[in-house]
Formats: sequence, C-alpha cells, structure tokens
Amino acid sequence: GFHIGSSVAGGGHHDAEPYPDPFTHDEEYTDVLAREFASLTPENRMKWSEIHPAEGSYDFDAADRIVEFAEANGQEVRGHALLWHDQNPDWLEEGDHTEGELREILRDHVTTVVGRYEGRVHQWDVGNELIGDDNELRTEENFWLRELGPEIIGDVFRWAHEADPAAELFLNDYNVEDVNDKSDAYLALVEDLLADGVPVHGFSAQAHLSTAAGYPGSLEENLDRFGDLGLRTALSEVDVRVETPHEGAGATEEQLAEQSDFYTRALQACLDAESCTSFTVWSFTDRYSWIPIAFPGEGAGSIMDDDLNPKPAYDALRETL
Ligand code: XIL
Repeated sequence: GFHIGSSVAGGGHHDAEPYPDPFTHDEEYTDVLAREFASLTPENRMKWSEIHPAEGSYDFDAADRIVEFAEANGQEVRGHALLWHDQNPDWLEEGDHTEGELREILRDHVTTVVGRYEGRVHQWDVGNELIGDDNELRTEENFWLRELGPEIIGDVFRWAHEADPAAELFLNDYNVEDVNDKSDAYLALVEDLLADGVPVHGFSAQAHLSTAAGYPGSLEENLDRFGDLGLRTALSEVDVRVETPHEGAGATEEQLAEQSDFYTRALQACLDAESCTSFTVWSFTDRYSWIPIAFPGEGAGSIMDDDLNPKPAYDALRETL
C-alpha cells in the first residue's frame, strides 16, 4: 500500500524551452519512469491552463497519455490540481463572467475532469496552495476564492466526490512540512471542513526542500496530527535543491551527501507516520527539473542527474525502504 512516485514532465513554463515534451520524446526518460515508480503525477498536464485551454473546450490528450501509460505499467495516478491560484487560463481570469457563470464553469470543470478519470486517478489534489505565506486563505490571489468566496472549497470537494466516489481528495501545499503556523492553519481548515461534512480525505505536504533552508524536523509529528483527524497524508512533490553558484554547476560531494540525508529523513518520516502512504518526487531527474527556473541560483534537486545517473540520494532512498 505504500507508493513511491514521480511527477511526469511536460508542459508548464518548460513550454518556453526549446525541447519537445519529454514524456513523448525521451524514451530513456519514460523507461526510467516506468521502471522505478509506482505512482505518477502529471506535473502540468491536468492543470486548468492545459486541460481547459479555451472556454467550453477541454484538451485531454496529454493527460490521457499519462493515465494510459500508468495503467500499462501498473502505476497509480495522483491528479493535480483542481482549485489553485496559479496556471489558470487567461480566458478565465481575464473574462467577465458573472458569479453564477463562474460557479457553473468550475462545477463543469471538476465534474468533467474528475469524471473522465473515474476509478483511474487514485488521489486528487483538490485544493492546491489555498493558504498563503501569511497563513490565511488566499482570498485575493486565488481567483476562485476571490470571486466565489471560501465556501467554494467545500463545494469543489463535494463535486469531485460525486464525480469519483473512490478517489481520495487532498489539500496540498508547500511549507507545511513542519508543525508551524501554516500547517496549524491547515489543521483548522480541515477541522472546519470535516465539521461541515465535506469529503476531504487527505493532506499532503509538497516538501520542496532546500539544504540552505534546513530540514523540517517535526515532519512526522505534523503528519501524525493530520492522521489523528482520520486523514491520509502524503509527501507529494519532494525535491531537495542546493545552492549552485553558476549555471550548469553541479552539486558538490558535500551537498549531495546533505541532500541524500534530507531525502532519506523525509522518506523515513513518511514511512513512520501511519497516515503517510506515498512519497512522490517532483522530477526524478535534473534534466527536467523546475528548480533552476523557479529558484535562480539553486538546482540539482533531483535524485538522478541530467544524464539519469543515480545520485547518492537514490541509493540511500532504496536502502531506507
Ligand atoms: C510547477 C511545475 O513543476 C512547472 O513545470 C511549472 O512551470 C510551474 O509549476 N507547487 C505545485 C506544482 O503544486 O504544481 C508546481 O509545479 C510546483 C509548486
């Protein structure tokens, strides 16, 4: 019942890069993806901007390919993401719909997308990054919370549950690995949702870790308190970036050792926490990592390098299992 997963590269800001979708054009990559992982998360292909590119029209091709690949290889799928402030299409955020129309657009999206993969996507990140760095709901930055109010969160979970009663529905965020103000805010949100009878089943910490920022030492304790509420937990987007002094600079041996330590401690915390049933890395290879784009000056955060050679973290994770 425990799954080691990876994101599946393709789409997102990488579209600006001069290479085609690695998922369909890099067999060396897909071979490793099939061989090493028991769960896949589309890195971008199920996000609004990609799966719902124009009003009233869905594009399922890229997402379908990933789900079919997972089925062919006996892998589970984590769906990502339904309610988020980022990577929404312009037609949506720049359109001038009424509240009633927006509600209907959202309901249709959730019902259509979750319904299409009914029984084939095991877990959905329903609410993604709903809470901001000020530990409050993103009622300004999140288009949906701004336009429809926070009550919409419960509705989205209900619609998703109706569309696929077997799928486990998650709240997912970053900087919630530790017991801290942000994870406290999540705990309160989960309690509210459960009290209202909302079908929320899981809480996942993305775990975008950085050796410079330090290891989240209370990770297991934090997962346990969500487990105590009856939720499943997961580490959903694990990577461990290091400071890279210049473009193309690899990590030093010392950095690789520290990185390996972070990876294994996070896996161990998840294995030890009864509620935690999956550990997903966000890009298993530096070849397609989002890190250098999102965090200039940092990189080399994956368990395999650009050439798909395993790093110390890869071997250490295997030993930990
Ligand atoms: C990132 C992808 O990795 C990039 O390819 C894309 O350009 C931007 O989004 N939290 C999330 C993920 O929930 O969806 C983000 O993925 C990383 C942070």
